[in-house]
Amino acid sequence: MKTYQLVICLALLQVCRGQSGRRVGKLEEVFAWKQITYDINGIMVLEDRFAEDDLVGRKKRSADSIYFDEQNDDERTWNDGHIIHGNPIDTPSVAAINPNDEIGRFFIQYNNVPMGAERVGNRLFVTIPRRRFGIPATLNYIDLSVYGGTRSPPLTPYPDMARSRSLISVYRTRADQCGRLWTVDTGTIEIPNNPRYLRTPAIVVYDLRTDREILRYELKSSDLPANNTPTGLASITVDIKNGDCSDAYAFIADVVTYGVIVFSLKQRDSWRHQHNYFHFNPTAGNLRVAGQSFTWNDGVFSIALGNEGPDGCRTAFFHPMVSSQEFAVSACELESREANQTAFNVLGDRGANSQSTMHDIHTPSNVMFFAEIAQNAVSCWNTEKPLNRQNMQILGQDGQRLSYPSDLHVTNDEVWVTANTLPRFIYSRLDTDQYNFFVYRAKVNDLISGTTCEGRTRPNQGYMPSSHYGSSHY
Ligand SMILES: *[C@@H]1O[C@H](CO)[C@@H](O)[C@H](O)[C@H]1NC(C)=O
Repeated sequence: MKTYQLVICLALLQVCRGQSGRRVGKLEEVFAWKQITYDINGIMVLEDRFAEDDLVGRKKRSADSIYFDEQNDDERTWNDGHIIHGNPIDTPSVAAINPNDEIGRFFIQYNNVPMGAERVGNRLFVTIPRRRFGIPATLNYIDLSVYGGTRSPPLTPYPDMARSRSLISVYRTRADQCGRLWTVDTGTIEIPNNPRYLRTPAIVVYDLRTDREILRYELKSSDLPANNTPTGLASITVDIKNGDCSDAYAFIADVVTYGVIVFSLKQRDSWRHQHNYFHFNPTAGNLRVAGQSFTWNDGVFSIALGNEGPDGCRTAFFHPMVSSQEFAVSACELESREANQTAFNVLGDRGANSQSTMHDIHTPSNVMFFAEIAQNAVSCWNTEKPLNRQNMQILGQDGQRLSYPSDLHVTNDEVWVTANTLPRFIYSRLDTDQYNFFVYRAKVNDLISGTTCEGRTRPNQGYMPSSHYGSSHY
């Protein structure tokens, strides 16, 4: 009897300390949610709310104008002269089905599907792109010093509820080594069959020490070739040149119209690259995830940067999501306005059913980690070896708890992964009695130890010596 009690106590203690012991392979569950809740100005928002007045005061004109300041409610011209209606309550579509009946609601719990999670110090930033109405804030955080031991913590709008309104919709964020958080605001509410292009997409950067917005750079119309380009701005990757925080470049993957948009902080300018390798592979488009079968055509999705070579250039690894191939180009090519089209390389094939959303490289070890949606898995590849399935290894896999890994990021010596069961949300219905959204973490060394990805870094013997990447015009 006493032993039995001791076991229970130890089990409880572990839960209290936030070490649930729940794992998927080598990944440790940090958080899991059946449905998302919020902490807004100290008020727990646990269920659907029609209006926000009692949470943020009565500064807003009405419960309808939930997202935007007065000045943004005007019609504005954007891009190719297309008129954008800034008011989220304008002319509900005739074909309106459910989503359009939800206009004006402050919180529709079911519609809140987390897409990305990024840890910076004591905060985990969680993004919820606005693909439906009823999302209080698209950029949020969890204070890990407060909620580190809670399985399903509430999200807090970043920097706070009022200022979070300056962002319309964000897919994924990335922090840089200079204490800044980079986001791409798509400016769009992606209501199915009725997308609302409310603002010009912009790069928005926050200073994490002051939690102030320090940059809003609107992309140029030449960066955005089609009306639906804003809906595809899935990820952002930041390159700091030679440790100089003022000399930063951001690479934005455009999955919908197949390009990479580059922004130079120093030049306060942006440009766009096109390349065949940014396109999807038509034979890789049939997917079966979370019990749903569908055909997707997402192009370049994720850009991961290796170590700086002797020429000061990092290797930019990238892949279209609908593809099993991995590609690379010198970041310096992307950072010049005219990239050498023949300087892009095919690194290899990850094998059948290896479609991946995000990937990221741990630069001390040169090991790449992939979020694999067709495998419900996280895998690794040591970039010093040729890329093929034999040189990859699955580190965690689960059809329920790692269903649609939507974000993956290496921060210091940890890998952070988000999974959100997205295809079931899109094509069917989530079971709100089950856990649907997960955040995992693992130490890089624990992940790769004993796997084919383990290996010592051998300078100058890499699979891709950086001398191959020197661009003569840079
Ligand atoms: C473009 O890249 C290819 C392959 O790396 C190289 O052979 C060629 O010289 C480059 N051209 C220019 C103009 O830099």
